[in-house]
Amino acid sequence: MAFISSGYNPAKPMEGRVSDIGPRHFGEYLPPVIKDNFGKWDYHEIIEAGILLHVAQSGDKTYTVRAATARLMTVTHIREICEIADKFCGGFVRFTTRNNLEFQVETEEAAKELKAFLNAQKFEGGSMKFPVGGTGAAVTNIVHTQGWVHCHTPATDASGTVKATMDVVFDDFTNMKLPAPVRISMACCLNMCGAVHCSDIAILGIHRKPPIIDHEYLDNLCEIPLAVAACPTGAVRPTKVEIEGKTYKTVAVKEERCMFCGNCYTMCPSLPLADGEGDGIAIMVGGKISNRITKPAFSKVVVPFVPNEPPRWPTLTKVIKKILDTYAAEANKYERLGDWANRIGWERFFEKCDLPFSEHLIDDFRDPAYYTWRQTTQFKW
Ligand code: HEM
Ligand code: SF4
Ligand code: SF4
Repeated sequence: MAFISSGYNPAKPMEGRVSDIGPRHFGEYLPPVIKDNFGKWDYHEIIEAGILLHVAQSGDKTYTVRAATARLMTVTHIREICEIADKFCGGFVRFTTRNNLEFQVETEEAAKELKAFLNAQKFEGGSMKFPVGGTGAAVTNIVHTQGWVHCHTPATDASGTVKATMDVVFDDFTNMKLPAPVRISMACCLNMCGAVHCSDIAILGIHRKPPIIDHEYLDNLCEIPLAVAACPTGAVRPTKVEIEGKTYKTVAVKEERCMFCGNCYTMCPSLPLADGEGDGIAIMVGGKISNRITKPAFSKVVVPFVPNEPPRWPTLTKVIKKILDTYAAEANKYERLGDWANRIGWERFFEKCDLPFSEHLIDDFRDPAYYTWRQTTQFKW
């Protein structure tokens, strides 16, 4: 396409420049019923899966219909969302903190009609465009990251693993039959962008091989002390190497100290470590952010590695389904997955979920590792 100027003048880049204006105020986009009753809500109910009712002190009611999105979406899809909002909701729509959509209507009939309409919208391949659900004790949308779609440090893909997983747990998105909500999150490297460290079930991309060192370019591309300081285990040290009679300033990696975090590559482009066979996924469980009953908790590694198997990751989704179904069958009402595992004991969790326990799961990172070992005689055979 030929260049079309927006009016920006590259010869005078600071002229007419607008800066530091921040986001639009959310008040500009509130539906009238929200504006009128802001801060004056009385109670709410879940009418059925995907439909919420909020009643204000004034008696005003608003019904919210929640539908999933794939998070990564085209402008065409956003326009379609806007068309639905124009048709049913006076042009108003919002996104949730887990990237679901919410449409608001005035009556229960309108909400049910909208739910049926949304559930009927399909892509050409047959997938539902706006499946309604994600409320109550359900599996809602998977918070996820960039993967092979855009990032340069991933050990797995985000959109692919998430689609494969949501397909397998879809029934629990459109129903509310679990003991408590189950949050599944996904991050494609252990930078953990998002919520993997605090979710009921987490999918995490991991490497299993140390970085490859591009000695000839490293000093030109990297600030060597940053790469040294990037390593959590002190595996990187500055050094010099001679290649064809020329001496290069570079780094050396002590491979038996490296645990393949990839942090040095984040700092230094000359230390790539992605690997087709080496890379894969670790599964963590038992995290939560709320303070309800038990305090917030980190998720714990329970499966050290499953291979990357694009496009459908069958091993990954099988393990997740097994953990979810065992929890659903065994846990008490209101028990989050971590609450359940803590009550029955982690040795029972592994037994019930049919997961092998290996040395990889035992914490060996610095002094705090000690506190994860068992300093009691209380355990079950
Ligand atoms: C065709 C050229 C380019 C494309 C397609 C491109 C695309 C992108 C995209 C998609 C992002 C991520 C935005 C986000 O996740 O919100 C990004 C971030 C960024 N890009 Fe570019 N980019 C280009 C050129 C450049 C150039 C020439 C520079 C610097 C001279 C640059 C500097 C940055 C920086 C610093 C960020 C990070 C911004 C932030 O995270 O706040 N990009 N770019
Ligand atoms: S989790 Fe890692 S690989 Fe994924 S988007 Fe974040 S930094 Fe990139
Ligand atoms: S990958 Fe991580 S552990 Fe290995 S050398 Fe780089 S920073 Fe250190």
